[in-house]
Amino acid sequence: MRQRATILSNREIAKATMEMKVRIVDGTIAPGTFFHVKTSELLRRPLSVANVEADVVTFLYKVVGTGTAELATRRAGDELDVLGPLGNGFPLAKDGKRVVLVGGGIGVPPLYYTRRMLAARGIETVAILGFESEASVFYEDEFRELGETIITTVDGTYGEAGFVTGPLARIDADVLFSCGPEPMLKAVAASHINERYISIENRMGCGIGACFACVCKAPDGYVKVCSDGPVFRAEEVTL
Ligand code: FES
Repeated sequence: MRQRATILSNREIAKATMEMKVRIVDGTIAPGTFFHVKTSELLRRPLSVANVEADVVTFLYKVVGTGTAELATRRAGDELDVLGPLGNGFPLAKDGKRVVLVGGGIGVPPLYYTRRMLAARGIETVAILGFESEASVFYEDEFRELGETIITTVDGTYGEAGFVTGPLARIDADVLFSCGPEPMLKAVAASHINERYISIENRMGCGIGACFACVCKAPDGYVKVCSDGPVFRAEEVTL
């Protein structure tokens, strides 16, 4: 599960947002899973899978600290120490149902690969993607190629002004898949969609269920985001 992956490209695609493509040879990679990536920091950093094409995996990550800043300096040909794929991923067996994908900021990436896989199964989807501003928007064209896509920005500089919950209120769908910041997840977890799944992004230690660094409250105790999730039914966790 631990492997040395080769970086194929690493470029900025939006404000402080990088797209890294790496060649990873081992493992079947399900949408919604993640890799625990070694950076210059002591702890590895979880990066969700944004896409998979043959043996090439795409990660999209935000430069927010020393670890990701160092990751942004890596170049094609460099090696990357990765652990994974880890976690459970989104349940794709939703035949005959309409799925709404709701992503916020750096929670958007896993929804792209998930949407591609849903489209491959013939499942109808609509995507609502929320960003801070126009400069932060990424992968809009890629999402539009797969179906209806609504963009929101908090400052109103692009798409609909406000939060993802605005357009979500008027969407008719059976299932919701969501990933993004906790306040957004809390809001969409309480939405009118019947079947709701949220992917939680917590800071992690081991990434394999051994250290309890990633625990999240649940109605009957705690769950480990890395090994029980990161995808949960909305009612399985207490945000
Ligand atoms: Fe160690 Fe989840 S990161 S248990």
